[in-house]
Amino acid sequence: MSNGLEHSSWVISDDHRVDIFVGRGTRRLLPRLIGSLGTGYSLIALVADSGLPESFRRDAEEALKGTGRLVVRIIAGGEQAKSLDTVKELWEWLLGSGADRDSLLIAYGGGAVSDAAGFAAATYMRGIDWAVIPTTLLSMVDASVGGKTAVNLGAKNIIGAFHHPRLVVIDTEHLETLRERDYIAGLAEVVKHALLEGKWFLEWLLSHREEILARRHGVLARMIRLSLDTKMKIVSRDYRERRGDRALLNLGHTVAHALEKATSYSLRHGEAVAIGLVVESYLAHRVTGLPLDEVEEIKNALASLGLPTRPPKGLEPGEVIGLVRLDKKRKGDKILLPLLEGIGKPVLVELDLGEAVAGLREAWREASHGD
Ligand SMILES: NC(=O)c1ccc[n+]([C@@H]2O[C@H](COP(=O)([O-])OP(=O)(O)OC[C@H]3O[C@@H](n4cnc5c(N)ncnc54)[C@H](O)[C@@H]3O)[C@@H](O)[C@H]2O)c1
Repeated sequence: MSNGLEHSSWVISDDHRVDIFVGRGTRRLLPRLIGSLGTGYSLIALVADSGLPESFRRDAEEALKGTGRLVVRIIAGGEQAKSLDTVKELWEWLLGSGADRDSLLIAYGGGAVSDAAGFAAATYMRGIDWAVIPTTLLSMVDASVGGKTAVNLGAKNIIGAFHHPRLVVIDTEHLETLRERDYIAGLAEVVKHALLEGKWFLEWLLSHREEILARRHGVLARMIRLSLDTKMKIVSRDYRERRGDRALLNLGHTVAHALEKATSYSLRHGEAVAIGLVVESYLAHRVTGLPLDEVEEIKNALASLGLPTRPPKGLEPGEVIGLVRLDKKRKGDKILLPLLEGIGKPVLVELDLGEAVAGLREAWREASHGD
C-alpha cells in the first residue's frame, strides 16, 4: 500500500518488518498506515515533542482518534528529553493509561524525543511495538531508522536498547517550520549517505540542489527515502551492531565528535559532520588512496548545499584531534575508522592510534588550507 508515497520495507526478523512511508501530509494518513501493519492495537500512546508546532500535533491527534483508544503526552523536545526522568515519566504514564503488550507507542518529534520514547517502548513490559514520526531533517534521514534507542547518563547514549520501530511515517511538511541552520545541518547526513552509496546519489543531490534548498516536497520525499534506504541497507547486514558493518555509518563522525567536544557543542551536529567528512577524506587520500579530485568533489557537494567544509578558524588541530584518543571506536592502541577508497566505496581501516592522530592532524591542516 503506497498511494503515491515513497515506500520501503525491511525485514528485521521472522516476526518484525519495518515499513517506511515518506510523503507530504502523511500525518493525516496515520490510521491507514497503522492499519497496513495488520495488528490490532489495544491503545495508541502518542508521545509528542513540545517544540513541534501545535497545528501538526492536532492534525495527527485528529487522524488517530479514528484508530481506537488514544492517549497523548507532550514531552520537552531537544536533548533534555533524553533522560531517565523522562523515561520514568513515560513508563508511569503508560501504566496509568492501561497500556499493555498490545499497545502501540508513537514517538512524534525530533531525534531526541524518538530516542527517549523509543527506549520507553523498548523497556515497557519488556518491549511494545512503536512507530516514529520524525519531524527534523536529521531525524528523518538518520535517527528514525536503525533501531537504536537511548538516553544520556553523564555522557550521551549510555543507557539504551536496540528496538526497531514497526512503522516510520515521514511527512515532509514538518520541514517547513525548521530553522534554516537546522535544515542545512541535516543535509550533512544525507551527503554522508550519498558518499557511502555511490556517485549517482551525490550527482542526484547536486542536480536537485535548488529544489532541495527550496524544500520542494516531491524532491525531499525522494531524497529522504534514498538516504534511509542507504542506512537500512548497511544496518540490515548487522541489525545489532555485532559484525562491525554498522561502523561504516560513522563516516566523518570521528572528527565530528572531537570537534563538537572541542567547541562545547556550539556547532550543529551536521556542521561538525560536514567538516569531519572533509578532514577524513584528506586522511583517506593518504591511507586508502582516495583520489584528490574526489576529495574536491566531496567538498564541492557539501559547499553547494550550504554546509561548511573547513575547520573553524582559531582551533588548534592538536587540541581537537587529541580528543580522538577518547573515541568509542578506540580499542587499546588501535582505532577502527571508516574511510573512503572512492565515493561509494567505504572500507573499515584499523590504524594505530598514534598514526591516526598524526594523519588526522595533517588532514586537518590540508582541509584548513583548501581553496
Ligand atoms: N537513534 C539514532 O540512530 C540516532 C541517530 C542520529 C541522531 N540521534 C539523536 O538525535 C538527537 C538529535 O535529534 P534532532 O537533530 O532531530 O534534534 P532534537 O530532537 O534535539 O530537536 C531539536 C529542536 O527542534 C525542535 N523541533 C522538532 N521538530 C520540529 C519542527 N518540525 N519544527 C521546528 N522545530 C522542531 C525540537 O523541539 C527541539 O527543540 C541527538 O540526541 C542524537 O543523539 C539518534
